[in-house]
Amino acid sequence: MVVMTTPKVNFSKSTPAISKNTAVIIGVETAGKSIKLTKSRFDSLLPKDLALDSLGISAELGKVAKLPGPKGAVIALVGLGDKISTDSLREATGAAVRELGSLAELIVDLPTKNFEQLLAIFEGALLGNYEFLSYKPKATARALKAITIIGEKPTAKSLREIEFLAQAVKACRDLVNHPANELYPEVMVNQAKKEIKNLPIKLKVWDEKQLVAEGLGGIHAVGKGSNRPPRLVKLEYKPTRAKKSIALVGKGITFDTGGLSLKPAESMVGMKYDMTGAAAVMQALVAIAKHGLKIRATAWLCLAENMPSGGATRPNDVIRIRNGKTVEVLNTDAEGRLVLADGLSMASEEKPDYIVDVATLTGAATIALGNRYAGLMGDDALVKRISEAAKEVGELVWPMPLPQELRPLLNSDIADIANVKIGNRAGGMLVGGIFLREFVGSENHTPAWAHLDIAGPANNDGAAYGYTPKGATGVMVRTLVNLAKSLV
Ligand code: BES
Ligand code: ZN
Ligand code: ZN
Repeated sequence: MVVMTTPKVNFSKSTPAISKNTAVIIGVETAGKSIKLTKSRFDSLLPKDLALDSLGISAELGKVAKLPGPKGAVIALVGLGDKISTDSLREATGAAVRELGSLAELIVDLPTKNFEQLLAIFEGALLGNYEFLSYKPKATARALKAITIIGEKPTAKSLREIEFLAQAVKACRDLVNHPANELYPEVMVNQAKKEIKNLPIKLKVWDEKQLVAEGLGGIHAVGKGSNRPPRLVKLEYKPTRAKKSIALVGKGITFDTGGLSLKPAESMVGMKYDMTGAAAVMQALVAIAKHGLKIRATAWLCLAENMPSGGATRPNDVIRIRNGKTVEVLNTDAEGRLVLADGLSMASEEKPDYIVDVATLTGAATIALGNRYAGLMGDDALVKRISEAAKEVGELVWPMPLPQELRPLLNSDIADIANVKIGNRAGGMLVGGIFLREFVGSENHTPAWAHLDIAGPANNDGAAYGYTPKGATGVMVRTLVNLAKSLV
């Protein structure tokens, strides 16, 4: 893995010197029907009566315009959107740092009201400074060495926490960006082992034989068509004096061909992203441990490669999930719910207070919500907490219902449940959630449960925006960590 150089970030209350190779980042805000520059200590560098409109400068969030400054420096004007907020500062800084990386030094002088906003600028700068260079390391034009944020330095602890989060998001992006020829279940296991070195996290792995021996028929059925065998990984963080417990369950399909219900060529492109849920819960757990949060947390990575072969699961095969329920597989491309069924069952056996699963589960999620919102389903109280946790960190989730009347669609003549209703496309995301619910909880314990369908926001196949690059986004890592924080 090629590791990017991380620029040094510092805070300054004085006005740093500028030179060639420096950009000063100043905000553009809306002022009634017009726009204006936000106040900065570099005002004197700007020509008076700058005709913003004629120069095509706008306050559109994250839009960056460059003007020549004194001594060869660049003045970069970044749009702050309709209203300056913690979120818009995070996004705008992310966009500016992403776009201005060919310069050696950036000075960010944006208006802040409090430390929270300064920290959002810091976070945006870290998240925006990302490139995936493993396969063309020389392609980078980034030369960024230092970022100076104008403002009072926040506490070392708060800065360190943001660093943990940004590292986790970027490590998630790196995992997801790796192609499936190099990243398969065993590789995910090895990456997890690497990540937890020197952290108070225990790891347990189920290989293909143990999966069969211990009744994990979902993960086995999905993985058995591949030459690269499936795995289940449990990561466990168990601090002393923790009162609450949360289990995170991630869909980790390292490539989804659809299996024998083969996807058409065009729909298969992008299916390396189908392990985003597993990468996100792994990295969230790492960040939770680094933060030292007083909550017991486990991450369950349900890892398999969904391939067609003489050994693959067929439509109409009946499999048995860990909790004893039988599933008739009518479409082998609805494989995420099969691996998660085992993951949810295993998580449930430990009777946690909360279970959250994260999965690129359905194309229907993108039909319903587009490419930026994650669909959020489950128990009302937990759904509300996750919505709040997401809002606080600037990630987008949208609550969706789990209508009980959809359950009969999944009735099977010969098994407890079918994995799809053939020919039914209505409410595909909700049907996925309805299926998963069958595998949550045990006879004498019902945890609060929520399901995040991240098929839309897991990757960004459009242009980069704000702090979000093209490709893997690392979405939900920060929401999950913030959720854990809120539950302590
Ligand atoms: N991995 C896909 C879902 C997906 C599609 C994620 C597009 C991201 C972008 C999932 O395993 C799948 O194929 N789901 C099927 C479900 C159907 C057979 C009920 C789908 O969405 O078509
Ligand atoms: Zn599939
Ligand atoms: Zn899939």
